[in-house]
This record gives sequence, structure tokens and C-alpha cells, in this order.
Amino acid sequence: MRKRVFSGARPTGRQHLGNYLGAIQNYVKLQDEYDGIYCIVDIHALTSLEDTSKLQENIYELALDWLAAGIDPKKSIIFVQSHVPEVMELHTLLSMVTPLSWLLRVPTFKEKVKIQPQNVNYGLLGYPVLMTADIVLYKAEVVPVGEDQLPHLELAREISRRFNNLFGDTFPEPQARLTAFPLIIGLDGKDKMSKQLDNDIAIALSPEETIERVMTAVTDPARRYRADPGHPEICNVHWLHKNFIQEEEEIHADQCRSATIGCVEHKMLLAQDINRTLKSFRQRRAALATKPEYVTDVLADGARQAQAIARETLGEVKQRMGLI
Ligand code: TYM
Repeated sequence: MRKRVFSGARPTGRQHLGNYLGAIQNYVKLQDEYDGIYCIVDIHALTSLEDTSKLQENIYELALDWLAAGIDPKKSIIFVQSHVPEVMELHTLLSMVTPLSWLLRVPTFKEKVKIQPQNVNYGLLGYPVLMTADIVLYKAEVVPVGEDQLPHLELAREISRRFNNLFGDTFPEPQARLTAFPLIIGLDGKDKMSKQLDNDIAIALSPEETIERVMTAVTDPARRYRADPGHPEICNVHWLHKNFIQEEEEIHADQCRSATIGCVEHKMLLAQDINRTLKSFRQRRAALATKPEYVTDVLADGARQAQAIARETLGEVKQRMGLI
């Protein structure tokens, strides 16, 4: 039997360049080596979404992004978290072996408290336990994620280790797998690219929208006039560009240092390269968008396959915990 790879993303909007470079590229690559299981985590999304009226639309858009990016339903299971409710049962059971102190020290929880002080809900604290349940329900061994998820993965390993110690060997300890670009900074040039912070570039934008969005990027703050020499090493446009076309960007960096190109030209080069790199993805996405019933079928089929595995693991867990 092949080992399993599992990952998930919240349907809070369309996938952005951070998701794409930090995670999706690995989802696609790893499905050739492992059995892939990719989950649209709608329950996790509820921890920060106060308005859920767009949830179904977001789930559909995210599925389109993933399919167009190359997750292949013939190689991987793609499904929606709440369609396999066994995960909520496992979450409750795992919460019994998770010390509260472990959850209180998770840095992402502290960050969320700052970002959404008006909505510090109980689900936010249990977020990594639900994430652990996602992974271990499928006994996944490899978890492709961006750097921001590493504290959650560490906790997932600790919880599975503790469960195994208490009740006998049940779960493999999941290992995170990073891409070469595990942390993409957003258009503000300081924070992680994120939909919630409105500093993202969605991969499904049109070429014109991409240019418009990239033009809002913050560059080297010391470069106030076109003739000022720039400092590409502190400029996020340079870093973003480097993630796409490593060698050529060195030439642009030199042109920036000598003020041969200005920030607007540099941004235009970046936008054009994003558009060129994502051209075939966008074409595939547009084609898929004409077949919404195909997407619905993929998700329904994915849920059926995922549930068969989930029921088996949950039965084993209940037995080990003395519930059956
Ligand atoms: P989410 O929806 O925030 O992001 C999905 C994936 O994209 C990565 N990512 C980034 N990588 C680099 N730079 C960025 N700026 C950037 N922004 C996002 C994330 O690291 C992630 O891999 N908790 C998860 C969802 C989840 C999950 C799981 C993941 C739930 N259960 C089980 C793995 C395994 C999350 O909120 O991802």
C-alpha cells in the first residue's frame, strides 16, 4: 500500500500566490508518489468567518483552483471536510488527550486573538486538534504545508505520539513537507500573504486584474524617486519575482540598484511573469468552470472514498479507547 499524503485549505476565498507557491505545487507533485487526500476544510473556516453566506461558493471556487492547478481526481481524493463528519467525532476524542497548556501556547492562536479580538471563539483554540484529526483520520504520513502551519504540525505529532503512548500504536507521526517558497509575503511587504489581511494576489485573477493588484505592492520605502538607487534585497516585488524566474530577476535586481528601471516597471515585469506562468492554469480553470456538475461529482466521489477510510480508523480508535 502506498503511503498517504494529506493537506487542507480553508475556503475563505480564492487561492492566492502564497497558497500556490507554498502548498499547491507540492500537492500536485506528491500525488505521483503517494495516495493524495486533499480536503477543503469548511469547518475550520468557521473559526474566522462570521458571514457564511459565501461558503458554498468559496468551496466551489477552491475546488476549481485545485483541479485547474493539477490535482488529479484519478490520483487523489478531493473532498469537503464536513461531508465526512467522522472527523468531528475524532476531534472530540483527541481533545481528551490534549493538554490545554499545549493549545494555549500555539503562536497562531495568539495571532488570531490579535487579528479578530471580536471573535475569539472556542473553535480557535481547538483548531490544531481538529487539524490533527484531519490528518490522522487518514493515517497520513506526509503533510505539504506552508511555513505558517509548522506549529500546528508539531502539535499534531505530539498529540499522535501521546495517543500512541496511552492506547498503543495507532497513528504514524505526520511529517510536514515544505516547498522552496514556504512563506510568501503579501502586497504590503510585511505580513504573510493572506486573504484575511487583503494583501493577496488571487491566482484566478484576469491578467488585467493581476496588473492592477500588483501595482498596489509596497516596494523599497527608501526609494522615493525614479532616479534613486533601489535596494532589491528589502523589496517584496523583487522577492516575489525571484520565486517565479530566479535568474532573470538577478538582472532586474541590478537594474533596480542602478536605477535603470523604476518600481512601476519592476512591478509590471512581475505582473507579466505571473500572467505568463499562470496562463495555462487560468485556461484550464475557465474550461472547468463551464462544467459545475463535474466539480460536484468529484467532491461527492471524494467524500465517499474518504469516508470509507475514516470509518475504519474511527472504529479502531474507539476500540483502543475502550468505547467499544
Ligand atoms: P490555509 O487555508 O491558511 O492555507 C492553505 C495552505 O497554503 C499555505 N499558505 C502559504 N504558504 C506560503 N506563504 C503564504 N503566504 C501562505 N498562505 C497560506 C498554508 O501553509 C497551507 O498549507 N490550517 C490550514 C488548513 C488545514 C490543514 C489541515 C492543512 C486544516 N487541516 C490538515 C494541512 C493538514 C490552513 O488554514 O491553511
